[in-house]
Amino acid sequence: MARIIGGIACSHTPTIGFAHDKHRREDPVWGPIFAGFEPARQWLEAHQPDVAVVVYNDHVTAFFFDHYSAFALGVGERFEVADEGGGPRELPGIAGHPGLAAHIGESLVADEFDMAFFQDRPLDHGCFSPLSVLCRHDGGWPFPIVPLQVGVVQAPSPSARRCYRLGQALRRAVESYPADLKVVVIATGGLSHQVHGERAGFNNPGWDAEFLELIEHDPVRLTEMTLAELATLGGFESAEVVMWLVMRGALSASVTRRHRSYYLPSMTGIATLVFDNHSSPPTPGELERQRARIAQQSSGLEALEGTYPFTLQRSVKAYRINKFLHGLVDPASREAFRADEAGAMRDHGLNDVERDLILARDWRALLHDGVIFFLLEKLAAVVGQSNLHVYAAMRGQSLSEFQKTRNAPGAVYSVSGRDQPAGPRR
Ligand code: FE2
Repeated sequence: MARIIGGIACSHTPTIGFAHDKHRREDPVWGPIFAGFEPARQWLEAHQPDVAVVVYNDHVTAFFFDHYSAFALGVGERFEVADEGGGPRELPGIAGHPGLAAHIGESLVADEFDMAFFQDRPLDHGCFSPLSVLCRHDGGWPFPIVPLQVGVVQAPSPSARRCYRLGQALRRAVESYPADLKVVVIATGGLSHQVHGERAGFNNPGWDAEFLELIEHDPVRLTEMTLAELATLGGFESAEVVMWLVMRGALSASVTRRHRSYYLPSMTGIATLVFDNHSSPPTPGELERQRARIAQQSSGLEALEGTYPFTLQRSVKAYRINKFLHGLVDPASREAFRADEAGAMRDHGLNDVERDLILARDWRALLHDGVIFFLLEKLAAVVGQSNLHVYAAMRGQSLSEFQKTRNAPGAVYSVSGRDQPAGPRR
């Protein structure tokens, strides 16, 4: 089974990345940042985790208000460095851990945290600013990550208590993963700061010191605080410290602090904290119960012939072809595809198998390959075929054979709108 070996919490200010990229290690102003992070870096080097769950928030970089969520789990194979306005930092992209991420996602949903899931989205300074000083990365990062984005910049956002409970559920999720993995939970954000309005520049080192005590010895007290109380004491944006409670909830009640530092160079109190976890091993009954809970909703689906649930595993595996087909909702992409199908697919990096399946309109094989039905019907609309063609092909029947099985035997329809009439709409 996987186990959580420890927790790290640290601030994620852009200044950390700046100090790293501008080589300010020896600078008296910026040097203390590195000194604060160094023991955490050494802890990671000594403990060699197999994977890190990184709890962070995006700063309206990769997550915008067209669709904003409370808890978004990164399930993809790789995450690039985000461009936050002046080009991305010169850091390598980092591998994800789709296997562990999918399991965590399934377990959290089973525990009634209705998660959002993302892939193919870059990570901003909320993740990479501290990561770039927590690990050496010249030859690539030392471990893959499972990013967990918490939506704290648009109200309403999750409470401290909800974050702590998410951490407790995260522990059940990790421990019920069958592979023998050492997992570290890294939470970023805070401490006291406010970056907007006339109150910009607010700090409260006294509260920061108290917070660091409470997160270690009495985190439940912190879960009873409202976001407004956190903002009053630490500045509005400091309420992002609720993310630290995800990490703390994932650890044992009693922890050993291996390191703690605090430094206030500019706008934000920069803190680092390292805990050893002392979770006792779960009983076999506990693990079986959690795994059964995870399987409860889908148990029995495997017995349904000709049925292919669109799982996280399927979503990650077939992301490229699904993304290409989803692009067909854009009129320009649709026209480019109609003008030169093979060329459009090549431009989007589809492989030969994917290209041939689309060129052949092999609806059943496309489904087997991981394409979700709702993108098959879009492709059908673009190429002038009806939904009925797709249904019939998936069943291995001719259109007329399938139509005879319907109460409306002559009906032919698709999701096509104005530009590609394909028979009566349903
Ligand atoms: Fe932040």
